Amino acid sequence: MANNGQAADVGLIGLAVMGRNLALNIADHGFSIAVFNRTTSVMQQFVAENSQTPGALIGCESLGVFLAALKSPRVIIVLVKAGPAVDDVVEQLLAAGLQPEDVVVDAGNSNWNDTIRREKQYAQRLKFFGSGVSGGELGARFGPSLMPGGDPDSWRHLKPIWEAIAAKIDPATGKPIPGAAPGHPVTGGVACTAYLGPNGAGHYVKMVHNGIEYVDMQLISEAYYLLRHLLQLAPDELADIFTRWNEGELDSYLIEITADVLRQRDPTNPKKFLVDCILDAAGQKGTGQWTAGSALDLGVPANSIAEAVFARCMSAVKEERVVAAKKLRGPVPGKRKYPRKIIEAIRQALYCSKICAYAQGFQLMRQAQQDYHWKLDFGTIASIWRGGCIIRARFLQKITEAYQRQPELVNLLLDPYFRRQVRVGQDSWRQVVMLAARHGLPAPAFMSALAYYDAYRAAVLPANLLQGQRDYFGAHTYERVDAPRGKFFHVNWPDPQRPQIEV
Ligand code: 6PG
Repeated sequence: MANNGQAADVGLIGLAVMGRNLALNIADHGFSIAVFNRTTSVMQQFVAENSQTPGALIGCESLGVFLAALKSPRVIIVLVKAGPAVDDVVEQLLAAGLQPEDVVVDAGNSNWNDTIRREKQYAQRLKFFGSGVSGGELGARFGPSLMPGGDPDSWRHLKPIWEAIAAKIDPATGKPIPGAAPGHPVTGGVACTAYLGPNGAGHYVKMVHNGIEYVDMQLISEAYYLLRHLLQLAPDELADIFTRWNEGELDSYLIEITADVLRQRDPTNPKKFLVDCILDAAGQKGTGQWTAGSALDLGVPANSIAEAVFARCMSAVKEERVVAAKKLRGPVPGKRKYPRKIIEAIRQALYCSKICAYAQGFQLMRQAQQDYHWKLDFGTIASIWRGGCIIRARFLQKITEAYQRQPELVNLLLDPYFRRQVRVGQDSWRQVVMLAARHGLPAPAFMSALAYYDAYRAAVLPANLLQGQRDYFGAHTYERVDAPRGKFFHVNWPDPQRPQIEV
């Protein structure tokens, strides 16, 4: 659509697939949008191919033209590769005449520390704002989940756009409203976006979303692996199982696409299933690793999140594994078929492990909000993940309800609903973990989630002995069960009398 000389409502820089789709989503909602791309021909082609959007797409060949095309204060969404490219774009915008009241929204998968740093660094020259965007290419096009964080005044300017383009939840069913199509966005419903807090809060929440996404994907992959080895089923038969699972508590985008992936035939040889032709070496771009790293930094036991990252690392050393497979002895999964009731046990194991993964993610955010002085609303976070994002699932409604019941909930596992779910599923969960161990089938996420559950519910752990060891070799001191917390003691171990000293 032509510009008609009107100033654009919003600008977007970076027309790779996410940027293009987000721009089209914004234009579909009637906003006029100025677009700029480093390679001008990409921008020209994009604008030429999309001349019929309800809101005008205004192609700009230079940043000067781009800034001149925008209403003041300018709201500029940046969708470039996370890292130094974001700073480069900001510097170029400043050089082109960006003003202190203008808002730059970094919508990439940026590290939250960078967002905190950038907000401070650019404070006098512009308003830097961070927003997580989840949902992949289709989400960006027809309704992502948006996780904004930064200065509340900047949010005021971005809010109408973010609320318009986000995925929408039907308040009656709690489910995403489907049906968006080019030029026909979904209207009505509850938008999957909410202001989450200052500076890096939005990008942090997006990162934890990705950490949870890693565990969800790993758990589903382990369920597939166990089903395959214990039941000797073909991928399309497994797809039917996942389709059935998608009708119950596990109803989620990731289960749905798993069934699709499993049904897919190899385009180069339709006699084969594609999944059998895909190399078992997982890639990763870093957000899962950041989540696990942040858990380590903050001292939060998010072991399943870390395990999901390590599982990808283990998969990536394919050549080493192939050599080791010939040398290291252990149980060989036999050809024996387990009774089909194992399917339900694996479903329960997956569900209980998933609850633990979310418990860890929310525990991590709970600690982070203290360290970073945010006030995160966990019920809201779960509710904006109900639609649009990769981990969208029916289950998230239950998390929102848990935090509505008890906003200060210490751990999801303590909520009555989730406590009950794990009580029902845990015998099956243990049985599945035992079967995996007995058959030498790696199931690190199932196993680490169960270890998390058992450790979290253990009033006494073996750390007493560990503290004794630390005190022995390093005089690191220990606390006593019969003394107040915070009083430390030390035994003079090499001394034959070994007196105890309060330190
Ligand atoms: C999303 C996705 C998206 C992307 C991640 C994961 O929420 O839309 O999480 O951000 O797929 O970067 O990528 P890796 O699996 O490569 O780490």
